[in-house]
Amino acid sequence: MEFHNTHISSLSIKLVKEVLESTWVSEGKMVKSFEGKLSEQLGVVNPVATNSCTSALHLALVVAGIKPEDEVILSAQTFIASGLAIKMQGAKTVFADIEYETGNISPKSIREKITEKTKAIMVVHWSGYPCDMEEINNIAQEHKLVVIEDAAHALGAKYKGKAIGAVSRFTAFSFQAIKHLTTGDGGALCCIDKDDYELARELRWFGISRENSSPSILGERQYDIKEIGYKYHLNDVGAAIGIGNLSDFPVRLRKMQEIGKTYREELKNVSGLQLLELKNDREHAYWLFTMLVENRLNFITKLKECNIPTSVVHQRIDRNSVFGGITEGLINQEKFDEKQIAIPIHDGLTQEDVNHIIKTIKSGW
Ligand SMILES: Cc1ncc(COP(=O)(O)O)c(C=O)c1O
Repeated sequence: MEFHNTHISSLSIKLVKEVLESTWVSEGKMVKSFEGKLSEQLGVVNPVATNSCTSALHLALVVAGIKPEDEVILSAQTFIASGLAIKMQGAKTVFADIEYETGNISPKSIREKITEKTKAIMVVHWSGYPCDMEEINNIAQEHKLVVIEDAAHALGAKYKGKAIGAVSRFTAFSFQAIKHLTTGDGGALCCIDKDDYELARELRWFGISRENSSPSILGERQYDIKEIGYKYHLNDVGAAIGIGNLSDFPVRLRKMQEIGKTYREELKNVSGLQLLELKNDREHAYWLFTMLVENRLNFITKLKECNIPTSVVHQRIDRNSVFGGITEGLINQEKFDEKQIAIPIHDGLTQEDVNHIIKTIKSGW
């Protein structure tokens, strides 16, 4: 049994073959089509396809005008990429606490961390369960802060009826190999504002506008770059994988959500195990099924003996020296870090696998 699976649809294989045969492997019509399909099918707004979620997060910070010495508030319950994107911009990472019941950033803790240097809040929808976006966007409005959602885990999630990717000024997705939808490696930055969208499109390719810079007689495009641009675009090979995988995505997402529902139903009364909170105003994308367990090492060992892989996936990132070491006083983060563990949830699992996982956990550890 695998902890994650990587899905490549037969349409992806067909489209990649077509792209390779055409020899147009750079950014072209496949990327444009992938972006169009992402917004049509998933309701995300103005997606700008990139070569990773890390570059999409960095691009959001650049477009938002985050400068060295600015402070960006984020939770430590994430992958190192979220914090590194802030560091890449020279800004300071300020770690807020999480809600113990979800692993998501706590709006109360965000308020406590705001200073006159705070410019943005980066939130992470841990495991694919949306953060308290209404409260967070209200805080941002009050203090004139930019909200960037790190939705690497949350493709297909919804908050109060809206797709994640249509809620805040910026949302970054990941299409890396083991994510819900892969393009090999890749990502997208969704921008609610049209101006942000236009700027993100330019900056993902050195700051050169592909549409508005025609080549001169000398053979190179005409441009005058005034600020640093990046090589962050997705290419047509990745986009072809993505388009193919988008066709299966709704069915696969439903399957993961069904497995999540079964786990919740079957594991809700297991002693020594706490399920994470699930409010009915949001839809979980279930990239992970994280739980809080007592005697975690025993739990991991028992499941391993029964051929069931488990993982914390990511531990608090503030322990890394690059951020200056552990932030004291993150009480919920500390408890969550000791108890959290995820079991497999993906569409490669058979009904027998799911039953085996449930039965093993119910038998104790
Ligand atoms: C929360 C979070 N943010 C960002 C990333 C980075 O994604 P990518 O590998 O597409 O850059 C990941 C990757 O796992 C992640 O889990």
